[in-house]
Amino acid sequence: MHSHSHSQEPGASLAQIPLGREGSGADYCENMSPAPLDIVNGHSESIHGGFVDESEAESNALSDVMAAFLYYKTYTLNSSIYRRLHSIDGLSERHREIVSSLGTIDKIKDAEKLVRENYKFILDLAHSSAVDAIPSPTENSMEFKEWLKHFFDARREAGKPPAADHHMEKLYSTLKQFVRDWSAEGKEERDQTYGPLLEALENEFVTIPRESRGGVRVLVPGAGLGRLAFDICCRGFSSQGNEFSYFMLLASNYILNKSQVTDQHTIYPFVHQFSNVVKADDQLRPVTIPDVLPSSMPFASMADFSMTAGDFIEVYSAEQEKEKWDAVVTCFFMDTAKNVLNYLETMWHVMKPGAVWINLGPLLWHFDNVAGEQSIEFTRDEFIALIGKVGFEWEERLFEEQVPVSYTSNSKSMLQYTYNAFMCVARKPREKSVMC
Ligand SMILES: C[S@@+](CC[C@H](N)C(=O)[O-])C[C@H]1O[C@@H](n2cnc3c(N)ncnc32)[C@H](O)[C@@H]1O
Repeated sequence: MHSHSHSQEPGASLAQIPLGREGSGADYCENMSPAPLDIVNGHSESIHGGFVDESEAESNALSDVMAAFLYYKTYTLNSSIYRRLHSIDGLSERHREIVSSLGTIDKIKDAEKLVRENYKFILDLAHSSAVDAIPSPTENSMEFKEWLKHFFDARREAGKPPAADHHMEKLYSTLKQFVRDWSAEGKEERDQTYGPLLEALENEFVTIPRESRGGVRVLVPGAGLGRLAFDICCRGFSSQGNEFSYFMLLASNYILNKSQVTDQHTIYPFVHQFSNVVKADDQLRPVTIPDVLPSSMPFASMADFSMTAGDFIEVYSAEQEKEKWDAVVTCFFMDTAKNVLNYLETMWHVMKPGAVWINLGPLLWHFDNVAGEQSIEFTRDEFIALIGKVGFEWEERLFEEQVPVSYTSNSKSMLQYTYNAFMCVARKPREKSVMC
């Protein structure tokens, strides 16, 4: 895979940005602005030269993700809304009347309207990326309809489905990821999860005032929609997020670079969930994003904020990344590895002697039981032992054995998942630059 990071300028679009490939399953999640935010490049290729990675696999992967965006309305209406209305149609008249009297049909019809609203948001996101030069996606525009028909005809001719089911699930997850990272509703989850990481980072560099921290470089692999990397930068550090999922890259580009005001967008991330719902209003509730304006970042003139696109190992094994980072912060990331030793080696490579690694997450080994894939699953104790074995100095006093955290949870659902995640802090020794 060609792995690149990208540099984004005011007004630059993802069409110009070299992107990494959508991972083979490792994606489990599932600013016109007053001063547009830079998404900066640590690497040689930059958008200044209009570089686009043309490899066939990558453009196919990107096209698959675009297909999921573009197919959202048709897919969701058919698989969720019309199917449910059809089930009710099939009831006896008496049952139908009872169901109708409860408001169930009205709820489904309301959900239909909200799916259409989500679609407008998703189309704007897709359009803003400027990938495939999508014409302005006003739903009734003939130009857009023709373009859409051509897009899906081409997929059919290539023997592809309009969009894969698992990609549709990733798109639903992406909507929930917006809640986690960029809504007021997500604050509680962020406080639980990003809070301890930010605190540990602050403690590590407590002697450096925020306005002087721009020279401290913090890397956030598997950055998702970028909020943790953004919050790190808001504390004065220069931070760089790294991602390889096109879902995350397109969505983070949209929120980071195109947001003009807070609460600019209203989405309905829970509209697809019909089970474990207490009240219809819970399912149909709107969520507004972003809760903060990315372009209003404090210390913007003193610290760099950037995102790189591509596989963590491929991007950061590069020679120019060697010993460039003062801290690495990983959140719900280490278990996305097939072989976590490769992540640890890459982290070692990029960390300066004495640099700190702060980690929080569970161990939901992502390739566990994925047919045909290498996967090595360690227990938490094995994982902790591994950190020492590869040469990191393990900060025992900062080990938190059980940190209860949720991940893209729907706070109003009857079903709640809580991970007893662990938090650990380790250091690359000052005197040793070679791994054990
Ligand atoms: C569970 S999500 C966590 C996202 C974010 N850190 C958070 O806490 O919300 C893991 C992220 O890592 C990304 N990822 C997985 N493997 C990766 C790799 N090898 N290189 C870069 N990103 C990767 C996935 O695309 C996904 O967005």
